[in-house]
Amino acid sequence: MTDAELAPAKVNLALHVTGQRSDGYHLLDSLVVFTQAGDILRGQEVQSGLTLRVAGPEAAGLAGDNDNLVLRAAHVMQAEGLALELEKHLPVASGLGGGSSDAAAALRLVARLTGRALPEDVLSLGADVPVCMAATPCRMRGIGERVTPMPALPHMAMVLVNPRVGVSTPTVFAALARKDNPPLPDPLPDWADFAQFILWLGKHRNDLQAPACAAVPDIAQVLSALDNAGAALARMSGSGATCFGLFPDMERAERAAQTLRRVEPQWWVQATGLLQGGPDGTA
Ligand code: C5P
Repeated sequence: MTDAELAPAKVNLALHVTGQRSDGYHLLDSLVVFTQAGDILRGQEVQSGLTLRVAGPEAAGLAGDNDNLVLRAAHVMQAEGLALELEKHLPVASGLGGGSSDAAAALRLVARLTGRALPEDVLSLGADVPVCMAATPCRMRGIGERVTPMPALPHMAMVLVNPRVGVSTPTVFAALARKDNPPLPDPLPDWADFAQFILWLGKHRNDLQAPACAAVPDIAQVLSALDNAGAALARMSGSGATCFGLFPDMERAERAAQTLRRVEPQWWVQATGLLQGGPDGTA
C-alpha cells in the first residue's frame, strides 16, 4: 500500500514569550495556523527495513542531515517495512516548523500504514510537534505541549517570504531583551471579519521578531517589502527568518507574491491559503 500525508507549513500569527523554565526552554503563548503549502511525505510498504529518500525543490537544505526528524519519528513508532519519501517544499530552519511538521506527518502516516497507535510523548521530538499533530488553527502554550483549538478565523490568504538567510532558534531566544512578556488575552475573542481580526492581531506581537531582525537585517527588509506589496499585516513567524503577509483573499495574495518575486528574485515567495480543518481541509 502507498499513502501520502501533507506536512503543512506552521505559521505563528502571534508569539508571546511569557517566561523561561529552569531547563532553559521558553514559555510561549502563540496563535498557530497551518497553510495549504507544505512538504509531502509518501510511504510505501516494502519487504523489510526503513528508508527515507528526500526529494523536491528544498531537498538540498537537508543534505548531510543524519538525524532527520522523519526517521526519528518513524523509529519512535518502531516502523519497519516502509520506504518513505519526503518531497521538501519548505525552506529548512526557516520558522515554518518544517522539521516538526514533517515529524508529525510521519507519525500520522506510519499510524495509518501500520495500524500502530500514536505515541503518547510527541513533545520530545520537538516543541512544535504537538501543535503540528493537530495541524488546525490552535493556541499553543507552555513550551508547546498545551494545544487548544482557537475561535474560527475569518477567511484569509497569506504570502510567505524567506530571504534565504538561516536563523538559529536558540540564538534568537538567547538575544531576547525580556522573557516575561504579557500573554495573549484569555479567552480569545470571536473575530467578526478579516478587518476586525487584523486590527486585533496588530495589537499583539512576535516577541522574537526584534532580536531576529537585529541578527538578520534582511528580515526587516522582507517585512517592509510585504507592507509595500499591500499586506494588511506583515510579521515574522517563529524565530524567523520567514515572514508572512496577510491578505483578504488568494487573488490579492497571488498578485503580491508576483510583485515580490519580481522585486527580489532570490527570495523564496509562496502565496497560500490556510488549513481550517486539518491536513485534508482547506479554508
Ligand atoms: O524543540 P525544538 O528542537 O524545536 O527547539 C529548538 C531550540 O529552540 C531549543 O533547543 C531551545 O533552545 C529553543 N526553544 C526554546 N523554547 C521553546 C522552544 C524552543 O527555548 N519553547
